[in-house]
Amino acid sequence: MDIKQILSKMSLDEKIGQMMQIPPNYFIENSTVEIAGNIYYSKLTSDQKFKVGSILGVGNSDEMEKLQRNYLSNSRLKIPLLFMADIIHGYETIFPIPLAQSCSFNDNIAFNIARISAIEAQTAGIGVTFSPMADLTRDPRWGRVMEGYGEDPYLLERFVKATVQGYQQDDILKEGNLASCIKHFAGYGAPIGGLDYNTVDMSLLEFYQNYVKGYKAGINAGAQMMMSAFNAFNGVPASINKELMVDILRDKLNFNGVTITDYNSLKESITHRVAINKKHAAELGIKAMIDIEMVSTCYADFIKELINDGIINISDINNAVFRILKLKNDLGLFENPYNYTSKLKEKEINRCEAHLQKARELAHECMVLLKNDNNTFPIKTNQKILLLGPFVNEYRTNGAWSWRGNNHKNRSLYESLKLEGLQVEYADYTEQTSTVKLDKYDLILCALGEYENESGEAKSKSDLHLNYDQTKWVKYAKDNHKKVAVILYNGRPLILTDIINADTILETWFLGSKANEAIADVLMGRVNPCGKLTMSFPLNMGQIPIYYNHFSTGRPRVNSNDPFTSYYIDCDNSALFPFGYGLSYSTFVYKNHKISNTVITEKNTINYQVDIENKSNIDGYEIVQLYIQDVVSNITRPIKELKNYKKLFIEKNTTKTVTFEISLRDLTYTNNKGQQIVEKGEFLIMVGPNSIDLHQIMIELQ
Ligand code: GLC
Repeated sequence: MDIKQILSKMSLDEKIGQMMQIPPNYFIENSTVEIAGNIYYSKLTSDQKFKVGSILGVGNSDEMEKLQRNYLSNSRLKIPLLFMADIIHGYETIFPIPLAQSCSFNDNIAFNIARISAIEAQTAGIGVTFSPMADLTRDPRWGRVMEGYGEDPYLLERFVKATVQGYQQDDILKEGNLASCIKHFAGYGAPIGGLDYNTVDMSLLEFYQNYVKGYKAGINAGAQMMMSAFNAFNGVPASINKELMVDILRDKLNFNGVTITDYNSLKESITHRVAINKKHAAELGIKAMIDIEMVSTCYADFIKELINDGIINISDINNAVFRILKLKNDLGLFENPYNYTSKLKEKEINRCEAHLQKARELAHECMVLLKNDNNTFPIKTNQKILLLGPFVNEYRTNGAWSWRGNNHKNRSLYESLKLEGLQVEYADYTEQTSTVKLDKYDLILCALGEYENESGEAKSKSDLHLNYDQTKWVKYAKDNHKKVAVILYNGRPLILTDIINADTILETWFLGSKANEAIADVLMGRVNPCGKLTMSFPLNMGQIPIYYNHFSTGRPRVNSNDPFTSYYIDCDNSALFPFGYGLSYSTFVYKNHKISNTVITEKNTINYQVDIENKSNIDGYEIVQLYIQDVVSNITRPIKELKNYKKLFIEKNTTKTVTFEISLRDLTYTNNKGQQIVEKGEFLIMVGPNSIDLHQIMIELQ
């Protein structure tokens, strides 16, 4: 379609309309779509309504088809609506939350989840997904850590890239592909206090060293859109921040796609007390090259006046509308405005058995075995088991952002274990412990954690402890000399010190539609858990934010006899469970660390080799991690940074050799101007099973 020609025919009102996105409720009173925010019914005239360019969310193929048909019948130039929605970790088939995915250290999982999500979402005619969330997340008080890929920028890059590729593949025109909208630019994952929507205050150095990496990976993977964040960046709300949205995003990061605000965030620049009013917000939004305003109507109400007053140029509007029409054209909407929507496919494909089995399979690698004393897991089939805790009969295992997920069709833990033919019973966990006799049971299995509606957007928490009703059962079982295992359902790191005496702790996050079947596979030993944490689990709330790749400071706590160092007088500095940590039913031993040479130049690379022996009679995966420390540099650098990892399958009682090639690229860092810097000198190369237990070898860059 010749979009230049279409653009030339459009009236100013029609152009302004393309720059608006509204929920489907403006057209369908009782739309089944979930909207993450208050529905602001602005006073849109019917004429304006039938000129908007895109719709936020749609309930199903029927809704989409009726809405599109109604819209086009009222559209002079027949420019089709574009439907966008939050398809975060599945559409009807729900997969593990992104934080759980990252613990697999297998970005193919993210690719495959995005693939199936795109295929299912397109049956309802959806063309764009507001995913992946590329925000770096270090503070577990923030409810949206469930939507990110953890505290490490390198892992974040790999998962964002794989997810974008999974949605878009090589051409968004093709059936089964969605356009990806990266979010939230920028720094939304770093709110002070972990309080959602709170102030973000970070240096450009911190931004370029860590926070930009996820967004950059998404842009380089070809993401079609970028969403501006709710927060201010360097003191200016992102949605009206020209330095951020033009100088950095478009000029420095070379993003030339469509930008969209977050929900009502353009109008909220007034609440930030930077825009004076909606007219001023509209002016600043245009100057920040924001193309689409989500839900609020600053553009609809004031662009015309701004042009008449000579405050903005029609060329700015034309460029924005051109980018929007180009996206619609790249999606093939002019020729196919219903975008492959199909009631039949919706029925046949969505939550089909093949997808559900895939959801179960992909969940396996996302679980993290935090403790397993005395080989409590796998369960022995002759054991008598008592289930306790709030999640024994719980179906809501999808997690936040799973509005089409049909939780009620999921299976509970109790049902899953009953189906295994186990001798399993449950008791009312709200009772006094003394009312529950444990004598006849061999194993007490506690299903603990947080409900799915306790994490996600606008779900910050000031206390991450499990409540007493949950933890009392672990203590009671141990006091009665019983074996006790904990299965955790949660969307963020929690404080686990109250249950640390359990024999076994399995972190399962929110694994989606087939969560408890996948958990049963692990408990029964059909699957050997292999996940590793991508966010540190604190010892207590006072340590937060706690993350592995911190700076040395001038007084690090290396010698516990020196009082004048950086430490808490009431708590250790270390995490309860560190980044990269996770156990397996196998036992892996690292040995024969060696390096090809200890001098690296810009012309050569170095190979680091290590043997990993599986000293058990259970086959399993191990995630071998490579960290590097820049020993001395012109600016402060983290004590270590993940630079590579390899996940390998090692048969029982065998040894495999892992080789990491280290190049100049692994030794560079980004300065506060976004420039890649490499400095000669010493670098510590560290390899091991997590971010703490590391073997290290010094090399020199000459
Ligand atoms: C929400 C979220 C954003 C989402 C958008 C549309 O407030 O911040 O991630 O994509 O609104 O639902």
